[in-house]
Amino acid sequence: MFAAFIACEKKQDSTNTGNNNTTPKSGDTIKIGEYGSLTGEKATFGQSTKKGIELAQEEINKAGGLLGKQVEIIVEDTRGLPQESTTVVQKLIDKDKVIAVLGEVASTNSLAGGAVCQEKQVPMITPSSTNADVTKIGDQIFRVCFVDDFQGEVMAKFAANTLKVKKIAILRDNGSDYSKGLSNFFEQTFKKLGGEIIAIESFQDKDSDFSAQLTKLKGLKPEALYVPGYYTQAGQIAQQARKNGITVPIMGGDGWDSQTLFDIGKDALNGCYISNHYTIEDPDPDVQKFITSFKAKFGETPDALAALAYDAAKIMFDSIKRAGSTDKKAIRDAIAQTKDFKGVTGVITIGANRDAVKSAVILEIQDGKYKFKESVKPDNAPVASTETAPATTPEIKAVAIK
Ligand code: PHE
Repeated sequence: MFAAFIACEKKQDSTNTGNNNTTPKSGDTIKIGEYGSLTGEKATFGQSTKKGIELAQEEINKAGGLLGKQVEIIVEDTRGLPQESTTVVQKLIDKDKVIAVLGEVASTNSLAGGAVCQEKQVPMITPSSTNADVTKIGDQIFRVCFVDDFQGEVMAKFAANTLKVKKIAILRDNGSDYSKGLSNFFEQTFKKLGGEIIAIESFQDKDSDFSAQLTKLKGLKPEALYVPGYYTQAGQIAQQARKNGITVPIMGGDGWDSQTLFDIGKDALNGCYISNHYTIEDPDPDVQKFITSFKAKFGETPDALAALAYDAAKIMFDSIKRAGSTDKKAIRDAIAQTKDFKGVTGVITIGANRDAVKSAVILEIQDGKYKFKESVKPDNAPVASTETAPATTPEIKAVAIK
């Protein structure tokens, strides 16, 4: 046993520290697990997330690491599946002995992986799962993004007040907790505002032909469609809707955010709207610095997943530093105490329910690009987020959600 341990100690780890100059010996590192959809239908979610975390890791390691050690991120691919999420999180905790976990993106997968973290008492931060139930799993589970009650409300208000539409049809993914939840919250608010949901049609995860649903919806003459799904299907739905003669605006949520959406949906996406977590048009110097560093490292513009992942990793590192130890309970408590952390996706304070209260942005799609429309602040935003948030230029003015 002892000999094996020594041998293992001598083995150099050259892959995961994000900083080749100071490659530490295995065993000398702070090990954090990451689980995400690196392949499969939601691959860009996992890949963007991985890049955001890598950038944060590189920065902390260049600055000397944490508690005198380099940070090692052990990454596992969930292939976008909940069963696989369970398996890989078990592996990260039992075999790799990570002291904390980052992930997943899709809420259904965070619900699966989160249950394992809770059972094994290992703190987890999801950068981007917005379904309310995720953090309800228990006291080990945190998020640094807003929740879908808010996201659904934001889009419903935009539809009613800005687009001024009255009749909306919903097309949702019944295999996704995220899609079902967001659809419900949108419906609640839209009805409260006097709008009518004239139909709810659904599809399942792997579907790619939506003509039956779209033909039915077209006959009902909706003034807009709401498609709270993920980018692969959203792009296909936009394409097929336009072919079917449906010309009204299509609205979606953060789940649309992927370069692949544009590759699939192309011009059919013009005049569509999504709610999201951040905009690259934000003039905040920290946001612009993040975008510049990300572009320099990866040759692409960071999407919301990358930005949220960067913030989640930085909050994890900051919490380990404040905990002053690798004790999981101390790290959990430090995450819970996160207050006024200035991230690139906003100022983050972890509340009593382990969620972050943050603003959302509405983006319009035009020729394969997002155009910032407005930023929407939740009623119960922590005071600090408006006071310490950097000066917003005229075009990034926050509108209170009322
Ligand atoms: N909010 C989505 C979910 O919970 C994930 C997501 C976040 C996708 C941000 C894209 C951008 O499933």
